Formats: sequence, C-alpha cells, structure tokens
Amino acid sequence: MSPRAFTIGCLTAIASVAACGRSRTERADAGAVARGGGAVHASSFDPTAWQPPAEADIPRDSLGASIRRGLALVTHTTDSLPAYAPGRINCTNCHLNAGRNAEAAPLAGSFARFPKYMERTGAVIGLADRVNYCFTRSLAGNRLPVESREMQDILAYLAWLSTGVPVGEGKKLPGAEGILPMQSQLTGDKTRGGAVFTAKCAACHGVDGQGNPAIPPGVPALWGIRSFSVGASMARQGKAASFIWHNMPFGAAKSLTAQEAFDVAAYVTSQSRVDSPGKEGDWPARGAPADVPYVTAGHAAFAPPPLLARANGREAVVPRPTSAARKSR
Ligand code: HEC
Ligand code: HEC
Repeated sequence: MSPRAFTIGCLTAIASVAACGRSRTERADAGAVARGGGAVHASSFDPTAWQPPAEADIPRDSLGASIRRGLALVTHTTDSLPAYAPGRINCTNCHLNAGRNAEAAPLAGSFARFPKYMERTGAVIGLADRVNYCFTRSLAGNRLPVESREMQDILAYLAWLSTGVPVGEGKKLPGAEGILPMQSQLTGDKTRGGAVFTAKCAACHGVDGQGNPAIPPGVPALWGIRSFSVGASMARQGKAASFIWHNMPFGAAKSLTAQEAFDVAAYVTSQSRVDSPGKEGDWPARGAPADVPYVTAGHAAFAPPPLLARANGREAVVPRPTSAARKSR
C-alpha cells in the first residue's frame, strides 16, 4: 500500500514533486521545512474538481484484471460470494453508481481516507476492516478473509477508484463523511411512513420489503433476513432518511419532502432485522449518535426494531485491532 500511496502523493502534490525520489531522511527534512515555511507540501489538489476514473480506463494488464474482478464483486456480491453475502443486497445497492455517487456514501476516494479513526470502533482501522464492517453489518454476512484473492480484488478496485486523490486528502471530497446529514433533523412517524412506503416504494421493494431480483438492476431487500443488520448505519433513522431523500424512489431522487423521508425511514427501520453480535461494544468511548437503535455505553436504544437471531456469530464480528507484540508463542 505505501509505495502506491507515496506515488499518488508525488504525482499530485505539485510542491512535493521535488521531494520524490529522494531518500527518506531528505524527505523528512523537506517535511520539516514545510512545517516552518508552510509551502513545500501545499497541494494543488482540488477536491471539488476531482472525478473518479471511468470504467473504460481500467488498465488492460494483471492489475486491471484484479480491479475488474473487484468491480464485479461489489456489484454482484450475493451471486459471487454467497457464503459471505447471504442476503438480497449488494455493495452497490447502497454505494450507488459503483461507488461514484457522492450522495450515497461514495467509495471514490476511500483509499485515501484510510487508515482512519472510527468512533464506532474506538480504534484506527484499515480499509480491509472497513470493507468487512460492511460485509458483516450492511450485508448481514460474514467477514471476508483479508488475505483472500477476493479482498485484494475489492481493495484494488477501491484504490483504482481513488486514482489521483492524494493520501489524506480523500477526506475533503464531497460525501467523504458517508451519508450526508439532512438539513433539518426531524422525527419520523412510522404509521405515516407506512403510507409513504405503500405509495412510493412497494412497487419495487415489495409490500413485504423483500425486494425483487426480476426488476433491473435487481431491487434489494429493505428488512428481514435478506437485508442489512441492525448494526448497519442504514438501520439508523437519520442515516436512512438522508439516503432515501437523496436517492429514492430510484429514478425520482429528491422528490419526497424531508418529513416523508423521515417517516418512511422510521417505517423501514422499525421492521424486523438481523442482529449484529458485539454491537453493545460500539462507541466504547461513549457518544453514540442519538438515532443508534441499540444500547451502547451511556446511550439508550432509539426505537429498537425486533431482532432476528443470527447463526454466524464469530464470522459476523470484525475484531478490533490487537497488539501483535502481546501474542504468546
Ligand atoms: C423504481 C424502483 C424503486 C423504487 C420506487 C424505490 N426503490 Fe429503493 N432501490 C431500488 C433499487 C434498484 C435500489 C438499488 C440501486 C442500485 O443498485 O443502483 C434501491 C435501493 C434502496 C435502498 C438501499 C439498499 C437497501 O436494500 O437498503 C434503500 C434503503 C431504499 N432503496 C429505500 C427505498 C424507499 C424507502 C423507497 C420509497 C420512498 C424506495 N426505495 C423506492 C429501487 C427502487
Ligand atoms: C445497506 C447499505 C450498505 C451496503 C449494502 C454496503 N455499505 Fe458500505 N457503507 C454504507 C454506509 C452508510 C457507509 C458510510 C457510513 C456512514 O455514513 O455512517 C459505508 C461505508 C463504507 C466504506 C468506507 C467509505 C469511506 O471512505 O469512509 C467502505 C470502504 C464500504 N462501505 C465498502 C462497502 C463494501 C465493499 C460493501 C459490500 C461488501 C458495502 N460497503 C456494502 C452502507 C452500505
């Protein structure tokens, strides 16, 4: 990861170009000058002008083959990896346009945002762990072995999708914080939301919320054993309201009122959902957001949905990084 990361930084940070190819000590010296003078590491990167590369630009070599496999895996996750993604929901059903949509938790730029401190975990984690949080929580599936071909392919795709974004500057891209906050924080009413669902969602997602693989591009499930777990960000009313308002109904985004979006989000998040083992350990330093639907340190569950038992206990949890130095041999 680091050689590539360094190259990205060298190519785009104009002032750093001079530092590329020098020894580590010389670069450290340049860094010291930068801290004093302020200009040496100034970047020309413009986060509002940057665009992720197009699929046609995937290179025609071995790395390109891996990137293409990664793209196929995030698009057809349940078909490709049924043992890890057992439901009716693929990565790109939330990360729309293959991760390019800035209003749907973009994956574009993610390679330049990690490793990162995640408050929910209470630790600095790498991108593979972040991917596995979505496998275990958003797909209610199993953790994909980090050393597997498939994980490396997904990471290759994410790295390619971040082409040109200097390391550390990914966090400045539009949507970098995940699903955008709604302008007004309202409280949803699930009874009114049920009426919105029947009128504006059920034609695709089904009255039972189970989706429909026959409607292109394949409509994902919104609750029950085939959908995201209670530990997913989408299970939070505010996050769901914002995703829905910005992106749904599919093909008619931003047509709901903010109140309708909160109401239908309250309806969707009140339905039965797969449990997420270990969720009580989230936000270990306290401070869980108000709409988290389960108990954590110092936080009472917000409108908790009925939970469905989960068979795959151990594989459903992403372990917090532990120190290798403490391992007994
Ligand atoms: C025209 C069909 C259609 C309508 C109507 C529609 N959706 Fe969707 N929905 C989709 C499709 C298709 C996706 C996946 C998009 C993709 O893969 O690009 C999706 C994805 C989602 C997701 C994220 C994935 C998941 O399973 O959780 C949510 C949440 C969602 N829709 C909620 C709603 C809500 C709420 C409504 C009504 C306000 C609605 N949708 C109306 C087709 C539709
Ligand atoms: C149910 C919707 C959903 C599904 C399905 C989903 N994710 Fe996510 N993912 C999210 C949300 C939401 C966030 C951002 C967190 C937030 O807004 O709080 C996120 C964040 C991420 C991030 C971190 C992005 C960043 O730069 O911070 C990565 C990487 C990621 N997901 C990869 C995946 C992969 C790979 C899959 C499939 C295995 C997947 N996701 C499936 C909803 C989903």
